[in-house]
Amino acid sequence: MSSEINNYITRSYNKKGYVILNIFNKNEIDGLKKKIKKKSEIILKKKKWNLSLYHTCVDDDQNQKITDQKNRFINVNNKIINKINKNRHIKNILQNKWDHSKFLIPDQKYLIGKTKKTSFKNIKKNEIPFRIVRPHKKKKYISAAPPPHVDVNATRVDKKKNKGQEYIGSSIQFTLWLPLIGFSKKYTLRLAPGSHKFNHPVNTLERNKKYVSSVFSKKYIEKFKFKRLNLKKGQAVLFDDNLIHGSSLNMGKITRISMEFRLYNFKKVKLSK
Ligand SMILES: [Fe+2]
Repeated sequence: MSSEINNYITRSYNKKGYVILNIFNKNEIDGLKKKIKKKSEIILKKKKWNLSLYHTCVDDDQNQKITDQKNRFINVNNKIINKINKNRHIKNILQNKWDHSKFLIPDQKYLIGKTKKTSFKNIKKNEIPFRIVRPHKKKKYISAAPPPHVDVNATRVDKKKNKGQEYIGSSIQFTLWLPLIGFSKKYTLRLAPGSHKFNHPVNTLERNKKYVSSVFSKKYIEKFKFKRLNLKKGQAVLFDDNLIHGSSLNMGKITRISMEFRLYNFKKVKLSK
């Protein structure tokens, strides 16, 4: 029976480019929230406040510092990483794509493209990025929720050429997106099911310095249908790095908090000693 479920989940993943998985328990989610709160307090300099009301506690300047690319990560304990490591569905999906299921989660400097190498010492720090997105107001907070893109980082530049057209290169990572606050459609990741099957032409990308990944032109995005998921506490979305996602505005009333675990193909990551 369990292998049937596995097959079903892998098949569904292959079709849609993402899958919802039950991974963490309530205590683990609360522990992660606590860490993000504590890290924010370095800038906020206050103790008695509620993370879901973050947007009422910060000014733009403080928010900028807290959500700065270089800073927005926490160090999680091995128990959290092991939960991902031991998940059978994740193992199967990785195996299916890479012919092995060994992943590593590089350090933040590598993830944001500041270096092309990482090391075991850095990996052991378990630096996991988080996102804090305040409720949406027109023409504000835009950079917190980047426009539609695929997760192309500095290491994924092996563009393939076909009939003179350049396409984004092959997949080397999966993203596991985990909401900590904000689980309904008003808050969650906005993604285009099935878009991972397309070869995305490089010339449909618009370089924009505000974001880690290049974003697609509006015209290219028009042909895809987007959806947002309803999730439960402890559930995470595993998605393909060729899946288009973005413009995940926070349409709710409270601050959204999420984390993203980047599972890299260990054979494709350059390691220094
Ligand atoms: Fe992304």
